[in-house]
Amino acid sequence: MLAIIGGSGLTKLATIEDPHRRVVRTPYGEPSGALTFGRLCGREVVFLPRHGHAHSIAPHEVNYRANIWALREEKATAIVSVASVGGIRADLAPGVLAVPHQIIDYTHGRRGTFFEGPDQPVTHVDFTEPYCPVLRAKLLAAATAAGEAVFDGGVYAVTQGPRLETAAEIDRLERDGAEMVGMTGMPEAVLARELGLSYAALSVVANFAAGRGNSAHEIDLKVIGAILEEAMQRVSRILDRCVECHDS
Ligand code: HPA
Repeated sequence: MLAIIGGSGLTKLATIEDPHRRVVRTPYGEPSGALTFGRLCGREVVFLPRHGHAHSIAPHEVNYRANIWALREEKATAIVSVASVGGIRADLAPGVLAVPHQIIDYTHGRRGTFFEGPDQPVTHVDFTEPYCPVLRAKLLAAATAAGEAVFDGGVYAVTQGPRLETAAEIDRLERDGAEMVGMTGMPEAVLARELGLSYAALSVVANFAAGRGNSAHEIDLKVIGAILEEAMQRVSRILDRCVECHDS
């Protein structure tokens, strides 16, 4: 079953048929909210809003371990993560959708592994390619089928938040090779990898990153809501096509 984690602008999936919510408890505490089960285009899916149903959980406060554990417990085998980002590249302008292929993690203090504690053997996972190439390809094919333009690839820098970055920080991220910046990509991606779930992201550019484009002097937070609202309609069409081609 495919799981969808919704980010800012996607606290519920309006198109889900026969939705029913279930609270799932985990050894790591509470997920961000009840899981919503239902069907998209006739296929079983499960949806979880990363920031809670009322969008009240900040990126650094999300219980990523509980979220990923709960989805796996409920038989999800793959996760499409929808998350808003700031565009660092000039062509990652507000409203653009992207399927990133790499991650640089700048977060700190987040519980980022299931492999810790006295009874756990030391375990390392390979993370050379942080996103599942097969699921990425499905997302890109779904976008083509839906007639929606999507940027193929991009290096996603994950910052701690909840504050936005300074212009100098964005300059540094760009020197590091980052092309977009968000606050939630990690440790979500690695936790999915640790539990053997395929994971890919659909990034929605909400704004130009600090110091770039029309954010040269300030990021206009007032316009982000409208940008995300429009973009999520396109995201929803892509998700519909994606579940159709996801059969495991
Ligand atoms: N920076 C970090 N995270 C974000 C941004 C940004 O500019 N926009 C949306 N999420």
